[in-house]
Amino acid sequence: MDLFELIIAHDDRVYPPDENSYLLIDSISPNDSSKALEIGVGSGIVSINLAKKVDEVCGCDINPFALELSKKNASLNHINNLYLFSSNLFSSIKIGTLFDIIVFNPPYLPVDSPPRKYIDLSYNGGIDGGEYIRKFLNYFGMYLSPNGRAYLLQSSLYPLELTNKSLRLNHYDFEIINSLKLDFETLYVLEIRFAYNNTI
Ligand SMILES: C[S@@+](CC[C@H](N)C(=O)[O-])C[C@H]1O[C@@H](n2cnc3c(N)ncnc32)[C@H](O)[C@@H]1O
Repeated sequence: MDLFELIIAHDDRVYPPDENSYLLIDSISPNDSSKALEIGVGSGIVSINLAKKVDEVCGCDINPFALELSKKNASLNHINNLYLFSSNLFSSIKIGTLFDIIVFNPPYLPVDSPPRKYIDLSYNGGIDGGEYIRKFLNYFGMYLSPNGRAYLLQSSLYPLELTNKSLRLNHYDFEIINSLKLDFETLYVLEIRFAYNNTI
C-alpha cells in the first residue's frame, strides 16, 4: 500500500501516525474476505489501510476525538467499510463476535501517573508500560476466530518474555514478523495465532 495515496487529517487531541503505525501497516497482509478489528484506531490510518484490503473493519477507541477524526479520514479516503465505535478495549464488543484479524498498537510507555488528557491515553501504558498489553492478552482470544491472527505492536520497553508466558498459558503462539530499531527501544510486530497442539 502506498501511504502517500492517503489523505490523513490531524487533531492535537489524537495520536498522529508514527513509526509504529507504519510498521504495523507494513506487516499485515490479510485475505480479502477477512473481517478485522482494530482496538485503538487513533487517526484511523491502520484501519483505513486494512479497509482497503478486506471486506469489513470494525475500529474502536476510548478517545471520542479519535473516533471523530477516523470518521473524517475514512470519508476523505472514500472508505465505506470501516465501522467505528467507542469501546474500552473489548468492552463494547458482544461476546461471540469473531474476527479473522485483530490489531492493537497499544499505549506502551512506562508512566507513573494517571492520564490527564485524552491524548495521554495514546502513550500511557501504566507504571511498567504493560498495562494495556496485559489486558489485551487476557481478552483477545475470546474474539479471534480459530484460524485468525492477532497483530500486536510491542516495544522492547516491556519484556517479550512476559507476553510469551501469557500467550503460552492460553495456548497461543507468536512470531515476530517485523521489527524496527529506534534510539531507545526496538519495536516488534507480533503475529499471534492459536497453537492447536500446545500442551501445558
Ligand atoms: C499508540 S495509539 C495508536 C493509534 C493508531 N492505531 C496508530 O497506530 O496510529 C493507541 C490508541 O489506543 C487508544 N486507546 C488507549 N486505551 C484504550 C482503551 N482502553 N480502549 C480503546 N482504545 C484505547 C488511544 O486513544 C490511541 O488512539
